[in-house]
Amino acid sequence: MGRMSNDRVAIERLGAAAARAAIPALTGILRDTVANGASVGFMAENTEADFEAYWAGVAAGVAAGQVLLLVARRGNDIVGTAQVHPAGKPNQPHRADIAKVLVHSSARRQGIGEALMLVAEAEALKAGRTLLCLDTDEAGPARRLYNRLGWTEIGTIPRYALMPDGSDCGSTFFYKALV
Ligand SMILES: CC(C)(COP(=O)(O)OP(=O)(O)OC[C@H]1O[C@@H](n2cnc3c(N)ncnc32)[C@H](O)[C@@H]1OP(=O)(O)O)[C@@H](O)C(=O)NCCC(=O)NCCS
Repeated sequence: MGRMSNDRVAIERLGAAAARAAIPALTGILRDTVANGASVGFMAENTEADFEAYWAGVAAGVAAGQVLLLVARRGNDIVGTAQVHPAGKPNQPHRADIAKVLVHSSARRQGIGEALMLVAEAEALKAGRTLLCLDTDEAGPARRLYNRLGWTEIGTIPRYALMPDGSDCGSTFFYKALV
């Protein structure tokens, strides 16, 4: 299991049982993130059941070996999360996507997002995935994080997604070659 300490926060990779057990906490982080207006795949009208169903799917992906799920723990609390999705295509055995990098609004700006990303990159590399891709809201704080960590911006697609309130959200695409 990958682990990295950051100001009393430990980054852990969860196995299948731990991923199922974390569903309520992860649902809380997603609810908080959407309520705070971030564009992370959901709309303001999405319900607790929608968030729970999403994380149940992630836990199933962990069990199936299709998702590497990381959490940031402070004591017993999960305060952040990130995922690595190894590409499933036979001709992309070296590639993975990073997804759903979320830090609870009460725990931001303490280096937890950066710590999650560094462990996500290390876990991807351990899994043999040396080319990573991701996209994020062009106007959100994650864009600065990825630039700071040496990711390459390849451009922004306007109106790619919607903000939780229904307004337009451009998505900025990045890659990072680990070798
Ligand atoms: C993007 C996100 C994950 C970043 O998480 P975070 O834990 O706040 O990230 P970090 O603390 O590593 O960095 C955030 C900022 O805090 C600063 N910071 C880090 N440690 C700090 C400290 N000890 N004191 C003061 N500032 C600090 C960083 O320099 C960075 O500054 P910047 O915004 O000027 O670039 C978080 O804002 C989030 O969950 N946003 C909503 C969801 C989202 O958009 N996710 C991305 C989807 S792809």
